Amino acid sequence: MKLPLIATLLCNACFTTAHYTFAIISHNDGPLSDPWTYIRNVTTGWAFSEDNINNYEPYYDLYDDNVRCGRGAATRPAHKTLSVNAGDRLAFFATQRDHNMVERLVGVYHEGPGQAYLSRAPHDDLDRYTGDGDWFKIGSITTKSDSKWALTEMPSSCGTDRWLEMNFTIPKTTPPGKYLMRVEQLFPLVPRFNNTQFYIGCAQLDIKGLGGGTPGPMVKFPGEYSIWDPCGYSS
Ligand SMILES: *[C@@H]1O[C@H](CO)[C@@H](O)[C@H](O)[C@H]1NC(C)=O
Ligand SMILES: *[C@@H]1O[C@H](CO)[C@@H](O)[C@H](O)[C@H]1NC(C)=O
Ligand SMILES: *[C@@H]1O[C@H](CO)[C@@H](O)[C@H](O)[C@H]1NC(C)=O
Repeated sequence: MKLPLIATLLCNACFTTAHYTFAIISHNDGPLSDPWTYIRNVTTGWAFSEDNINNYEPYYDLYDDNVRCGRGAATRPAHKTLSVNAGDRLAFFATQRDHNMVERLVGVYHEGPGQAYLSRAPHDDLDRYTGDGDWFKIGSITTKSDSKWALTEMPSSCGTDRWLEMNFTIPKTTPPGKYLMRVEQLFPLVPRFNNTQFYIGCAQLDIKGLGGGTPGPMVKFPGEYSIWDPCGYSS
């Protein structure tokens, strides 16, 4: 995808000042959760400057365990597990931590695909599950045309045309049980090798329902992505 240089510059200006993560969830269009209630809390990453120290940095390393749930999150259980029915809709909201350590909504402003996966905890022991098992994809937000991603308009100087949420539906036939739900959003815009930014989060869900489905194909994280995939992204 070719973009005018001016757009790239604007975007650079944007992502050196801020990134985001997914800390807030809403269930069937209900109220927004408190940050990091149902989603596993991530640790902050390397910061560009002192000024930026409290912001979450994107994740780059496709081969590290942190690509499962975000930096430091695979071994930090969420405060709560959300009870949902198969067929329900879950929306993940992009947030950013301000200088008072408060998470605020910023919207998804990096152009790129978004996807969601589920992985059932062995023996439904969710708090202790680190996501090293099998995952299956339940949804994908891809392109709206040959030259545009569906997720986000080009940020007009970190602008206003942002998707606030990425929402996904739990498949109706998902076998009931306790699952990690992993959402990721990728930012492959900067045209350099080994440079795709990952924004990742894992919610803890207790899924009820009649089941009946056989989820698949199964993938692992790390494992699903190769650095040689075009744009670091395999569809
Ligand atoms: C999330 O983790 C950060 C440290 O990485 C901590 O300061 C903050 O209190 C945690 N928030 C919640 C709601 O657990
Ligand atoms: C929910 O997701 C669908 C499919 O990606 C999308 O068309 C819709 O706009 C989203 N809803 C909101 C409120 O963002
Ligand atoms: C990709 O980037 C990471 C740092 O983010 C680096 O450790 C790794 O060696 C790079 N891999 C290649 C093949 O360039």
